[in-house]
Amino acid sequence: MISRDTIEEVKSRMDIVDVVSDYVSLKKSGQNYKALSPFSNEKTPSFFVVPSKGIFKDFSSGKGGDSITFLMEHEGMAYLEAIRHLAKKYGVEIREEAMTAEETMAQTERESLFILMNFAKDFFVSKLYETEEGQAIGLSYFRERGFTDATIRKFELGYALNGWDHLQKEMIHQGYNPVLMEKAGLVVKKDDGGSYDRFRGRVIFPVHNISGKVLAFGARILGTDKNQPKYINSPETEIYRKSNVLYGLFQGKNAIRNADNCYLVEGYTDVISLHQAGVENVVASSGTALTDEQVRLIKRYTENVTVLFDGDAAGIKAALRGIDMILRSGLNVRVLLFPDGEDPDSYSRKVGTSEFQQFLKDRVQDFVSFKSNLYATEAGSDPIRKAESIKEIVATISVIPDPVKRSVYIQETAQQLKISEAVLLTELNKILIHDRRKKQQEKLREQPEQPIPAEAIEEPVSTRVDPQSMVFYQERETIRLLLNYADQQLREQNMADFLLQELEDVEFTHDALREIYHHFRNPGGALPTSDFFIRQGSEAVKRMVTELVTNRYDISQHWGDKYKIYIPKEKEVLDQLALTNVIRLKFRVVQKMMDENLLRIRKAESERQYEELDNLLISQEGLKRAERELAGVLGIVVAR
Ligand code: UTP
Ligand code: MN
Repeated sequence: MISRDTIEEVKSRMDIVDVVSDYVSLKKSGQNYKALSPFSNEKTPSFFVVPSKGIFKDFSSGKGGDSITFLMEHEGMAYLEAIRHLAKKYGVEIREEAMTAEETMAQTERESLFILMNFAKDFFVSKLYETEEGQAIGLSYFRERGFTDATIRKFELGYALNGWDHLQKEMIHQGYNPVLMEKAGLVVKKDDGGSYDRFRGRVIFPVHNISGKVLAFGARILGTDKNQPKYINSPETEIYRKSNVLYGLFQGKNAIRNADNCYLVEGYTDVISLHQAGVENVVASSGTALTDEQVRLIKRYTENVTVLFDGDAAGIKAALRGIDMILRSGLNVRVLLFPDGEDPDSYSRKVGTSEFQQFLKDRVQDFVSFKSNLYATEAGSDPIRKAESIKEIVATISVIPDPVKRSVYIQETAQQLKISEAVLLTELNKILIHDRRKKQQEKLREQPEQPIPAEAIEEPVSTRVDPQSMVFYQERETIRLLLNYADQQLREQNMADFLLQELEDVEFTHDALREIYHHFRNPGGALPTSDFFIRQGSEAVKRMVTELVTNRYDISQHWGDKYKIYIPKEKEVLDQLALTNVIRLKFRVVQKMMDENLLRIRKAESERQYEELDNLLISQEGLKRAERELAGVLGIVVAR
């Protein structure tokens, strides 16, 4: 267990701008920073970092919190993983406290899986070098493919001995939990209860996450056996989601950033061969179509992707699929096809380092040339086919989110295909309008749930909505006012005094809100601030507070200017906000009490407890009067 002191030290040193910048490229906006949301695909930035509060807020997904929350949400780290990561980043020495049995149990499964995978990786590496079988079969296979020792070490390649339980036996001997071994995908359970090693008699390619931890393995067969798959891969586990990982990103991320370009290839061996040819800015999608999440991973390091594909039919098909997907996400894409039958791996070995690097420079094409060349050979002089291929190209351009880029590509296409720009633009607009309509219709169909805004909430007035959720709204609004304006002077007293006095007898129903309210009621010194909760609060409290202190219109200062809308500053109307809030909260609490009372009345009726019933009816009358009174102040007509 990490000591309390260490955690405090980490929290005091962590810097939200610094932490987020490792993954997202931030632009300064007033005192804050903004960026396109790393949690969704969007065209206008709704991701904000507020350095003065040490928090981020993502309006498109609703996520928000401090540096630790960011790492948990964005990197999928567990809480302690995030603390360790930050400690390393800021050079804080981690002091461990001895773990109790209970704490050991509580150590998250994810962390255990990482430990198991790391053990297995070391096991496979040692077998490659230290056993006769490993050397004779595994190591000589790698050497035959031209991998140098440095490369083999860099990618932590290994060898799984031929046998059913080499790994399993050793892990059990070391005291690892067999259930976790199966959850890590290292052993496979049989129906009869027995189990065996998943990887046997194969060379091992570990798959790393961006901080270099092993998530999975790919195990390649030696030689060719038509009855067995070429690769056996780890299954998806709690730490491995295939769609979210790119092979080679850990080894290549700095080179990608420096070159401001990322080569995209198909397989493990392509990545490794490119490294050997001195090209390190490369990742592999591991034989599947690129996913949105993978594109987002690349986007952290560069906006430019060059897809390298086999020149055969399958390779071209894969390239075509990839192009639209990458363009749609806002990245720039170039294409490079290898001569038929060659892939990056075979070709780099065939021609050698310098010629290979030259080839990459010379043969790269933008996607317009790539597509038009492709269709030109296919269509020949057939005018109908030619028209179709032009439409294809324009359709691809239409997926690019940035209008400026779109028009550059339209010009480029016009020149290359010798067609007037106007014709292309007409076609483009047709597609864009059609797409927009389709999207609108989809939106109407879905009617997405509106997120609750952080601003003062206008509740529906005439209908009687579920009182519990209305109580929640008003509790939330109370806390929002306290967090943002506690020491603001109202007419006679400050906000905190007013609210605490008025709501003296109200008990909050929502856990996190009650906890926060409790700190205001018993401050033990100065009133608590949002920073206090963000530093000290539980995850739930932290999230709630983040939500309530970030107001989209405050942090996005240009919004009002841009649309020439006057947004009254809340500060100008605090008196009224405070009063309305108090009355609304009381109103909703009363309604909730009436609902609860009604249940008791029904029960008393059915159980014929008439004395009890009388009392209940009297208090219901009192509540009804209170409801009517409060409604009068709010200008609401009560319907019952
Ligand atoms: P390739 O067949 O091109 O494999 O598949 P490769 O890595 O280049 O291997 P060599 O050069 O023939 O030795 C590309 C990728 O597809 C996935 C692997 O990630 C592979 O690297 N793949 C392929 C599998 O997962 N399973 C398979 O059976 C085949
Ligand atoms: Mn290959």
